Amino acid sequence: MTVEDIPASASPGGPAGRTAAVIPAAGRGIRLGPGAPKALRALNGTPMLIHAVRAMAASRYVALVVVVAPSDGAGEVKAMLDAYEHALPERTEFLVVPGGDTRQESVKLGLDVLPDDVRVVLVHDAARPLVPVDTVDSVIEAVRGGAPAVVPALPLADTVKQVEPRTDGTPEPVVATPERALLRAVQTPQGFDRAVLTHAHETVPAAGEGATDCAGMVERLGKPVVVVPGHEEAFKVTRPLDLVLAEAVLARRRANDGF
Ligand code: C5P
Repeated sequence: MTVEDIPASASPGGPAGRTAAVIPAAGRGIRLGPGAPKALRALNGTPMLIHAVRAMAASRYVALVVVVAPSDGAGEVKAMLDAYEHALPERTEFLVVPGGDTRQESVKLGLDVLPDDVRVVLVHDAARPLVPVDTVDSVIEAVRGGAPAVVPALPLADTVKQVEPRTDGTPEPVVATPERALLRAVQTPQGFDRAVLTHAHETVPAAGEGATDCAGMVERLGKPVVVVPGHEEAFKVTRPLDLVLAEAVLARRRANDGF
């Protein structure tokens, strides 16, 4: 099914309810070095967060995007969204809420403001600004098709070793080599039946730094989580080299759509 063929039930008030995207964007992004919070860094002159919001709003299914801003930066993020209104579809509604100390807490604060008619929820990292709309749509379609939780994922290029971590600078001993063919690198947006995700956030405790992955919380409830194909352009902008790659992807796209 293409986005042009979305049935009437995808519209607001349809039997499947509305779809909303929650974007946790409250992290400091220290691995990118000092400066503005990661989500507010520019990529080709446009804040990373705006790219991420635009990527969610590009899906015809997504009626509402909730941005979870740094706790002291909600006003700034709201002003930024207003400034880029021209680059965002009119059909989409936007909300900004202040975030918490961990990603898990920030996602929960975003879920708390969803209207009652939202039945499908995407959770998308602001740090993955370039996810293509086809990936977003395939996650949503899998949830609408009945899966309680869906993650986009890719096979791994690297072999992965499990180690016994050392912090004293001595070589870390390898303890296992999981079979690479059984592993997947998981991306976002992750998609959920709203009730399942809300239940997970109400029952799974926020131990330590909290969950870095909402699907993992749903797994802990014993609910099935399924994988759909991810996309190489949905990579996470984490280190300085990722900014170079993201700008290269955007330069290639700019030739096509002018953004
Ligand atoms: O730090 P990391 O890259 O794992 O963060 C993943 C996502 O979670 C980012 O989009 C970040 O802004 C968000 N986050 C958040 N609130 C926090 C920590 C991280 O919204 N307290």
